[in-house]
Amino acid sequence: MRENTISEFWSAHPCGDHLVGGASRGGRSDSEEFFTRYDTFKYRLEPHIPGCLDDLDVAGRRVLEIGLGQGAESEQLIRRGALWTGVDLTRTSVERVGARLSQRNLPREGLHCGSVLDLPFPADSFDLVFSHGVLHHVPDILAAQREIHRVLRPGGELVVMLYARWSLNYLLAIGLVRRAALAVVYPLARAGLLKPSGVVGAHVTNARRTGLRSYLRMREFIHHNTDGPDNPHSRVYDVRTVRQHFPDFSVTRAHKHFLHAPPLPVHRLPGGRVAGWHLWVHMRPKERADVPSGYEAAAVR
Ligand SMILES: C[S@@+](CC[C@H](N)C(=O)[O-])C[C@H]1O[C@@H](n2cnc3c(N)ncnc32)[C@H](O)[C@@H]1O
Repeated sequence: MRENTISEFWSAHPCGDHLVGGASRGGRSDSEEFFTRYDTFKYRLEPHIPGCLDDLDVAGRRVLEIGLGQGAESEQLIRRGALWTGVDLTRTSVERVGARLSQRNLPREGLHCGSVLDLPFPADSFDLVFSHGVLHHVPDILAAQREIHRVLRPGGELVVMLYARWSLNYLLAIGLVRRAALAVVYPLARAGLLKPSGVVGAHVTNARRTGLRSYLRMREFIHHNTDGPDNPHSRVYDVRTVRQHFPDFSVTRAHKHFLHAPPLPVHRLPGGRVAGWHLWVHMRPKERADVPSGYEAAAVR
């Protein structure tokens, strides 16, 4: 898949913008008021994030954040004393985060438009690399982790949030409820008995394009059920797959949060630690001599 396709998607659908009346809903997405609204919304929905960031040792350390969205975590990292540099694939995100940091007088070391596949930094530039909700959208994950390993100093830390395979969302909401709903709606729509619009309509259109059976295969369906039906690429992870897809790193800690399984109303229930959608993984870079070679041949699906 071309990186342009991914960049076009995130430029057209900046993370969470539509949920808080941003530019995609005819509002403004670079105002002080927008950032306040966005952060209030985000941390009410995902209240575990500030605590997870408190656990990171960022004060006075060179931190690279990859994939910035609206910059909510960028701000949190800087407020915790990180010497922060950010990189995002899209100009949209870079401009918004630039506006946020300037409006709030927050310092930064650098802010770049670029890809995790080709980071614009010399080797060993950072003490910690943080990436929240991004790397599961990168098809060439082996190249991405290799590039992160290059810019991270020996003994540094990589902390990522990836979508969790062993989650209520993947197993029940996406795997069962949404697939079953589409299997019912699709033939009715084809027969002209239903005219679905919005998200359901978009799934019907997608299924028409690839054929319902192919579309409902989890390997295909997952792409269209995490960040909207038009999202080009998503994967889910457990610790075993993290080890396979990040062969240049050793996993030191993993924890899950955020019980989220739309359309099921599970938000306020406990159980995020067991069946949450957000898998946080902490990793240490392997020494360069210990990095496996030839793993390109390994199947990363
Ligand atoms: C789902 S958003 C997550 C944003 C933010 N970290 C958050 O959790 O709200 C994904 C972000 O990653 C960026 N992104 C996607 N692929 C990327 C890549 N290859 N390199 C750098 N950034 C990328 C997108 O432009 C988008 O801003």
